[in-house]
Amino acid sequence: MRKLIIWSEGYSVNNSEIDEQHKKLINLINQLYNIFLDKNTDQIADILKEIQAYTLYHFNTEEKLFSKYKYPNRLDHIKMHESFIEEFKKLSQTIDTSSDIFVMKIITFLQKWLTNHIMKEDKKYQGYL
Ligand code: FEO
Repeated sequence: MRKLIIWSEGYSVNNSEIDEQHKKLINLINQLYNIFLDKNTDQIADILKEIQAYTLYHFNTEEKLFSKYKYPNRLDHIKMHESFIEEFKKLSQTIDTSSDIFVMKIITFLQKWLTNHIMKEDKKYQGYL
């Protein structure tokens, strides 16, 4: 599979459950990228649904840990999750799967958001969970 995002230890947040979930998210975005490159446009809607569902599951895992360990920055972090879901839903609803520009826009959005979020926000909870 051609990889848009490559997992490396630099993405680790020192929690194996969360690292595995981040790897799965990266894999799903790479799958979307391959579907786009292979022009399998009929598969785009389904993979977007899968990415959205798995992202919700992942956010839920993090947020439960935030409560359990009373992570001090949890409210701000949860807001970031919520605004991502809102933006992702909006983009998914308006996407024209036959348009390369639209599909690339959502792929770029997912790639940038996930990598920035892991590196800048998820890394902050490393010492707490
Ligand atoms: Fe790994 Fe805050 O999402």
